[in-house]
Amino acid sequence: MKLIAGNWKMNLTPSQTSEYIKAFLPLVEGIEDREVLLCPPFTSLCVAQEALKGSRVKLGAQNCHYEEKGAFTGEVSLDMLKELGVSYVIVGHSERRWLFGEPDELINKKITACLHKGIRPILCVGEKLEEREAGLTFKVIETQIRLALSGIEEYTDKIDIAYEPVWAIGSGNPASPEDAQLVHAFIKELLSQINPRHEGKTRVLYGGSVNTSNAGSFMAMRDIDGLLVGGASLNPETFSQIVKCF
Ligand code: 13P
Repeated sequence: MKLIAGNWKMNLTPSQTSEYIKAFLPLVEGIEDREVLLCPPFTSLCVAQEALKGSRVKLGAQNCHYEEKGAFTGEVSLDMLKELGVSYVIVGHSERRWLFGEPDELINKKITACLHKGIRPILCVGEKLEEREAGLTFKVIETQIRLALSGIEEYTDKIDIAYEPVWAIGSGNPASPEDAQLVHAFIKELLSQINPRHEGKTRVLYGGSVNTSNAGSFMAMRDIDGLLVGGASLNPETFSQIVKCF
């Protein structure tokens, strides 16, 4: 099933989250042929869980720690997230990689921990502008995916991947659907190489300046299995239109 996910990043307080979900649920009621996911900040997960009760909309987190518990000030474990109804975690978002210095090895540990806990990770990968201009897009994507899945190659079907070119995020300058399609097809081929028993259950989402006008053209591409939406997911009306774009 296609997956349309909203990554709220560091936006919306708990009370704003309740208001959002109250407005959003009626707009997506009855939609059963696609998965809808909201990824609010940690502080909103509790109210979001409550507000989403009885609906098909799923709850995701934007980050996690890989250890079960302990002296890791400021971090949040997967058990804590599970208790709040979280079934997905975004791992390796470019903002975590480049603003907070998350290396591939850490991303690999987080993905491994998610798999152990039965939470589906959404692994984010994407090239920077200078890498694209140097013709390194496929090489960068391949390296990020191979390192993230190192030692857990047999579990490729238990993760989703978001292709988010760094230069397209929050820039109003999305990749063209055709260019994104090429990378998505490459990612799927790579997964089959990494895991000879790969069954193709990994969804590859596109993210980066998705809006109500371009969402449909991304979803029309053969290997684009969903969207990871940032800014345009912050308004319930706008996000519901993106959910319904195909
Ligand atoms: P924007 O949709 O705001 O470009 O952000 C994309 C993103 O980073 C989703 O994770």
